[in-house]
Amino acid sequence: MDKVVLAYSGGLDTSVSIKWLPEKYGLGVITLTVDVGNERDLKEIQAKALKIGATKALVVDAREVFVRYFVLPALQSGALYQGVYPLATALARPLIAKLLVDVAREEGAVAVAHGCTGKGNDQVRFDVAINTLAPDLRIIAPVREWRMTRGEEIAYAQRHGIPVSATVQGPYSVDLNLWGRSVECGILEDPWAEPPEEVFAWTVNPARSPDQPRYLEIDFEKGIPVALDSRPMDGVSLIGELNAIGGEYGVGRIDHIEDRLVGIKSREVYEAPAAVILHQAHAALEAMTMTKDALAFKNLVASRYAELVYNGLWYSSLHQDLAAYVASSQRHVTGTIRVKLFRGNCQVVGRCSPKSLYSHSLATYDQADAFDHSAALGFIKLWGLPAKTQAQVQFLGEPPAELLGISPPRKGKESLSEAEAQRLGPSELDAIPEED
Ligand code: ARG
Repeated sequence: MDKVVLAYSGGLDTSVSIKWLPEKYGLGVITLTVDVGNERDLKEIQAKALKIGATKALVVDAREVFVRYFVLPALQSGALYQGVYPLATALARPLIAKLLVDVAREEGAVAVAHGCTGKGNDQVRFDVAINTLAPDLRIIAPVREWRMTRGEEIAYAQRHGIPVSATVQGPYSVDLNLWGRSVECGILEDPWAEPPEEVFAWTVNPARSPDQPRYLEIDFEKGIPVALDSRPMDGVSLIGELNAIGGEYGVGRIDHIEDRLVGIKSREVYEAPAAVILHQAHAALEAMTMTKDALAFKNLVASRYAELVYNGLWYSSLHQDLAAYVASSQRHVTGTIRVKLFRGNCQVVGRCSPKSLYSHSLATYDQADAFDHSAALGFIKLWGLPAKTQAQVQFLGEPPAELLGISPPRKGKESLSEAEAQRLGPSELDAIPEED
């Protein structure tokens, strides 16, 4: 019997797939459950897969690999899709795809399968990654193919003795890993509706968060967070702890309209306390340790990097090239950032770095001032020279001078167009002297 490796979450879609794949394609199903920090009972999921009929149920703890090769490089790059989404789901997909391919090779499978629908980004990320890594493997996406409604799926599950958990009845589609939690569907599809409290699981309502702020110090080495309040920590633990503390202070809620790769605008709600805190802290340290030019260029890279990850192009040479630039850009991003968490906000309130480009003697207005004020005169002369030259030759007072905030030269009544005269009104018109 030919084999298929199915990415198995333990949820309804992939549980039904365990029965559907042999029924429809005559394939033996090996399940692969990847732990990227999704807070699930892995033993239970494994047992469930076998009970439903998987020939083998594998579980891989990929948290460390996820953080080291996916999450932290994305943090270093400053990747926030459309300026806000830290890309938790998008970053996990290429890793899960790679592990599916690895297991398919080890087990001699002819196909891999995943539970994505035909409407989202995740199908693109999985399919592109799998096709790139293993073009010979067949990809089956049962949910995209079978077109069962939720109700039909539940009926199918009940007919086949597949346990349907109570949460399946809930209206929301949730995906999570240690970099963030995403919630879609239900009332959230109304962009005017405020997300009800029930969609949040990691963060408390800021209105009910502690009434005293909490300060944290985060140490970075070359753009990687390595210690929290002076306690050295590995990435997985540090992110876990920041999620817990940030969540307690209501930090990390994101609500926005996002452009999916498949052309749809969708309403997304995220909870990502650690990602929000770390991105802010990291950006603050970069502001202190990188030059103005380097920062401007890195911002361009950050947005391209975010798009590339979002759009499922993790396994591309453009990514390799950008990643090399990002790694190099981080060589001086070392130091400590102090943040203040309070009522849903995270604010950077202090920074220090052995590689700081901030010079107190250059910045200060007190006696220690070492800035050469007289040099400013010559600088201003040259900096303003092109503007001054142009203003002399190409008079800037002519229309559309109002765009620059320069009022147009006074005209006599005769030279006003009809429209202008109407706009001015009789009293203003009277104030204009006759031309002689
Ligand atoms: N919109 C986010 C993204 O495309 C989150 C997707 C969540 N996925 C899910 N299957 N619920 O990355």
